[in-house]
Amino acid sequence: MERCIRGRFVATHAPAEWTHTKPRVVSAAFHTLPRGNTPRIETVAERPILNMILEAIVTTCDSAGRVNVAPMGPLVPAEGTGMVLRPFRTSTTYQNLRENPCGVIHVTDDVLLLARGAIGRIDPPPELVPIPGAKAFRLADCCRWHYFEVEQLDDSRERTTLTCRLVSEGRVRDFFGLNRAMHAVVEAAILATRVEILPREELLAPLPGLQTLVEKTGGPREHEAFALLRSYIEERLS
Ligand SMILES: Cc1cc2nc3c(=O)[nH]c(=O)nc-3n(C[C@H](O)[C@H](O)[C@H](O)COP(=O)(O)O)c2cc1C
Repeated sequence: MERCIRGRFVATHAPAEWTHTKPRVVSAAFHTLPRGNTPRIETVAERPILNMILEAIVTTCDSAGRVNVAPMGPLVPAEGTGMVLRPFRTSTTYQNLRENPCGVIHVTDDVLLLARGAIGRIDPPPELVPIPGAKAFRLADCCRWHYFEVEQLDDSRERTTLTCRLVSEGRVRDFFGLNRAMHAVVEAAILATRVEILPREELLAPLPGLQTLVEKTGGPREHEAFALLRSYIEERLS
């Protein structure tokens, strides 16, 4: 079911038959977003404005059941049961969600896994736990997880917009807490994923400052993650 709100068609609720079926492609949904800006997503009255980006890890499955693990930064509400994922059309996460429109988003402080996922070098694969009744798996080790289903998909742009409903969740362990080395690894991981887009100087200039934060405040996993990302960036630029 959909309603037209200020020129946009917005799903008011997901009919039961959408569960585990392909998402609807609603190309008219977000056409009025300003280009080049972080989208400000207006939602129907019963849902809050989505206003923060959560740097998270997403697991998705293809139709054959192969699991993919990737860092993603969805827009999440301060409260409520929705989120908006924005994977590029080139990503495996997007391809998987087209084939099998559900997955799991994880809140974690494991920046080594995030770094490995960012550069496609997750080896050995992390331990996974099946989500009952769905073709989806969650990370065994994380702080919090949310199983989601895609309600609406707009792939009219290179960076797609997938409106998702959070269906179930669990808490596994406490979050370590704020840490500058972890933040530095997240920043370096984002740089690593932009190695083909950003100019050489923009990629290299932040690295010494980020490395200082890792050396001053990180543990072994942060050191390993940063070294991995730094050598990946340098290799790709050489
Ligand atoms: C913290 C963080 C957030 C990211 N957020 C996104 C995102 O929202 N959308 C996206 O397409 N890529 C994002 N990326 C880049 C992807 O993780 C990267 O392109 C990855 O290779 C995609 O993996 P996949 O092809 O296995 O899905 C992010 C990377 C990091 C480190």
